[in-house]
Amino acid sequence: MKIAIVGTGYVGLVSGACFAEMGVEVTCVDINEEKIKMLSEGKVPIYEPGLEEMVVRNFREGRLKFTTRLTDCLDEVEAVFSAVGTPPDEDGSADLSYVLQVAREVGQNMNHYVVLVTKSTVPVGTAQKVKVVIAEELAARKVEIEFDVASNPEFLKEGAAVKDFMSPDRVVVGVESERARKLMQRLYAPFMMTNNRILFTDIPSAEMIKYAANSMLATRISFMNDIANLCELVGADVNMVRKGIGADTRIGSKFLYPGCGYGGSCFPKDVKALIQTARQQGYEMRVLQAVEEVNERQKSVLFQKLSSHFGGDLKGKTVALWGLAFKAETDDMREATSLVIIRQLLDAGCEVRVFDPVAMNECRRRLGDAVTYAKDMYDAALGADALLLLTEWKQFRLPSWEVVRRTMNQPVVFDGRNIYDPEELRAGGFHYSSIGRQ
Ligand SMILES: NC(=O)c1ccc[n+]([C@@H]2O[C@H](COP(=O)([O-])OP(=O)(O)OC[C@H]3O[C@@H](n4cnc5c(N)ncnc54)[C@H](O)[C@@H]3O)[C@@H](O)[C@H]2O)c1
Repeated sequence: MKIAIVGTGYVGLVSGACFAEMGVEVTCVDINEEKIKMLSEGKVPIYEPGLEEMVVRNFREGRLKFTTRLTDCLDEVEAVFSAVGTPPDEDGSADLSYVLQVAREVGQNMNHYVVLVTKSTVPVGTAQKVKVVIAEELAARKVEIEFDVASNPEFLKEGAAVKDFMSPDRVVVGVESERARKLMQRLYAPFMMTNNRILFTDIPSAEMIKYAANSMLATRISFMNDIANLCELVGADVNMVRKGIGADTRIGSKFLYPGCGYGGSCFPKDVKALIQTARQQGYEMRVLQAVEEVNERQKSVLFQKLSSHFGGDLKGKTVALWGLAFKAETDDMREATSLVIIRQLLDAGCEVRVFDPVAMNECRRRLGDAVTYAKDMYDAALGADALLLLTEWKQFRLPSWEVVRRTMNQPVVFDGRNIYDPEELRAGGFHYSSIGRQ
């Protein structure tokens, strides 16, 4: 079976490599020439555990190809997956220009039946727009060629993307023809050997499932952040509260961790987009509006704690940051809390020393010389008046506090992920503060 995947970012590259791993012949297409050049030289532009090895092997064995032109493979493929970006427009709604551009290209160049499968996260109704665009292009060419559209939202988590794709909790596929359903069933069959977790739906429901899922997860985070902030005020410990409520099987224990705000390329934009979709229908998503507001406020919580610790005067202070990526196991800094905090620290006149195991280049690309890039976590703490833990990388979990204490100018730690033991830190002479704990 041969397929094309248009858009070779986190989703497109992981999907392409995993389909190729199952024996599918995959051509990954991207308009970014530099990215395609790198991939064609066996270099993977993003950090994702297990991805590089899989990409390189399948590329070498000829099942994975890279090109900048969809027309290189369109005549040979049965399905075209669209995994291009859908960034937020100014009003928060999803920008569909890339998705529709792919549809246009398919309509302008296809010569036989294909299914155009949208893997990008897109609002309800997008598949219909895609269909109209292809039909318009075929009409302009005065040709009649059968095609289908399908919606196959992606649920992979950055940092565990390969694992999630290879053994998914579920695969959701929205279709409107038996032919497309069969094709998608065949394509995903290798991933369903032990347990058939493929859920076929109508197309609008598939499109909605993705937004509803991300919005639910974002809601849990903001809810727990609100609870954590209240715990601090009333003298409760959010860790105990989390365990206490998570033990209720109706609630479950996952995604109940408070922190310094969610970021990344999905939750912030998908919550905004769903709010906007509702508005277009004359409906207010009040819960999600609050989820967003709470999250924006949460991104500033550590800065506020730091500022009040130093009596509101941070000028000339050196602040170390451990972790820049929006979460562990990725170099993605899109909408990362670190970016908000760095801006606040710089505006307050601080010197900022940063360390992240994989996101240093990404930070350099975004911020240039505005911060100091440390060699390692201890180097970041060198001469610092305060240390802020922002990303829960495993290597930050058990540092040598003695070394940190000797290295820092003042023993002050703000833990944005609640990974340290308050008693241990205080016994070690640190001023320690976390989220929702005393
Ligand atoms: N990143 C995630 O964890 C994740 C998870 C699930 C779903 N999604 C969704 O998947 C989609 C893609 O996300 P991503 O993080 O992979 O984005 P990304 O920005 O990493 O990659 C998108 C790629 O598409 C390319 N592109 C844009 N227009 C193109 C065109 N006309 N032809 C060929 N290539 C084109 C860009 O050059 C870029 O390389 C988004 O809708 C996102 O919401 C992302």
